[in-house]
Amino acid sequence: MPDPYYLTTAINYPNGRPHIGHAYEAVSADVIARFQRLRGREVRFQTGTDEHGLKMARKAEEQGRTARDLADEMSGYFRAMDDALNISYDRFIRTVDKEHHRASGAIWRAMDANGDLYLDRYEGWYSVRDEAYYDESELVDGEGGEKLSPQGTPVEWTTEETWFFRLSKYQDRLLDLLKTPGFLEPERSRNEMIAFVERGLKDLSVSRTSFDWGVPVPDSEGHVMYVWVDALTNYITGLGYPDDTELWRKFWPADLHLIGKDIVRFHTVYWPAFLMSAGIELPKHVFAHGFLLNRGEKESKSLGNVTDPLELAERFGVDTLRYFFMREIAFGQDGSYSAEAIVSRANAELANSFGNLAQRTLSMIAKNLDGEVGAFEPAGDDKALLTKVQHACATTLPDEFEKLAFSQGIEAWMQAVWACNQYVDEQAPWALRKTDPERMCVVLLTLFMAIRDLAVAIQPVIPTKAAAVLDQLGVPDERRNYVDLGDAAWFEALTAGGHRIDKPTPVFPRLELPAEEAA
Ligand code: MF3
Repeated sequence: MPDPYYLTTAINYPNGRPHIGHAYEAVSADVIARFQRLRGREVRFQTGTDEHGLKMARKAEEQGRTARDLADEMSGYFRAMDDALNISYDRFIRTVDKEHHRASGAIWRAMDANGDLYLDRYEGWYSVRDEAYYDESELVDGEGGEKLSPQGTPVEWTTEETWFFRLSKYQDRLLDLLKTPGFLEPERSRNEMIAFVERGLKDLSVSRTSFDWGVPVPDSEGHVMYVWVDALTNYITGLGYPDDTELWRKFWPADLHLIGKDIVRFHTVYWPAFLMSAGIELPKHVFAHGFLLNRGEKESKSLGNVTDPLELAERFGVDTLRYFFMREIAFGQDGSYSAEAIVSRANAELANSFGNLAQRTLSMIAKNLDGEVGAFEPAGDDKALLTKVQHACATTLPDEFEKLAFSQGIEAWMQAVWACNQYVDEQAPWALRKTDPERMCVVLLTLFMAIRDLAVAIQPVIPTKAAAVLDQLGVPDERRNYVDLGDAAWFEALTAGGHRIDKPTPVFPRLELPAEEAA
């Protein structure tokens, strides 16, 4: 039995509606979850919303409503986005949940029992937008001379009585961890964090007393936890911590925390230190993806270029958007999107290449073979094609996806699609119809096998469209996993009792871009 696999996304602040960056992270994580399930692993995939803290409290105040009310409404939009994008999460967690408060209280007590918490006065800079404390030396000057966080957000001077966590005590262990190959990727984030820890860690303020929208600190009137303490704990709340549950035993430590590159410090310095203190095993892998830019620019309300991901999905199709994200952007780096780029990718690769391959092959099988799919003897060229397709689908794509190199994996898949189209053109089965119907049959059935492998392999990225192709091929559900990719036994099983397909309908229509956008 392959090992179980636990994967998480960052949980999002529900202080507004989701934007394209949230959609990108959700889709990337979903591709990983689906991929691992197809490999036969038992997957637990968790996402959710991060609902406490000053940022939420202030936004609610601005709107003249309670933080809880704001959180309830906006959290619903995040969940709706996940559902619309076909995100196959197993658990959508909300940090206002009672069990989450209980888990947060438990990790707090464990850190306290280890002697790592003490009361003192915090005086320093805080960014509400980042919900982060910054050292004076990290700040940069804004255009008007004002002080900004390294992320470019406003900071405010804060003085209050708080609990401190002995982060400094974990300096050496954290450095070792960050240097452990494979713990933090990509390299850019890893180097950044090593440098951060090497500059020396100060103890961290982990409670707040100037507002009350948070998880209460156990036995400490007037203190709520610093929002990142409770937020990070979501990863273990969802498995039943602090109880010794079956989920906990099966899935902790996490195989992967997928996050954005701006929140690496919280996940690879604070979080492991909290876990070390509480005596809990550390996650195996943290991967920081890049940002999605709108035609090369960051989206912002002031630029008026904020895109609703659901509008994009509605306009171009959910699977088209998913394909674009994973294909266009080298995972880990920043990427750029635009309507033209989405349309040109989708048309060139999905409609004209894979879609066209499936449509013309299945039409010819329906018409010229009366839909009948049966045993056949592939010859030299046919075998060469099948070997190439199987290698791409069963080896290259999975190896690349395992490394989270999605665009490379899809590139190998696309090369195989192109090889099939080239084979169709060379073999010209329509011409064989009169001259050599037996040969035509071999060519079409070779393509049938190839299309099945291609459709199975690409399921994590475009689950609905791939399923539509597999439905047209008549491949049963239990023959849609990666385990028997590249093994011809499925074909024998499929055709043993006679197999017939219907006339297909196109799965990947060509997209049109209105003239004013095509400029
Ligand atoms: N809400 C944070 C953000 O959007 C992410 C929290 S992820 C956590 O930056 F799980 F670690 F808390």
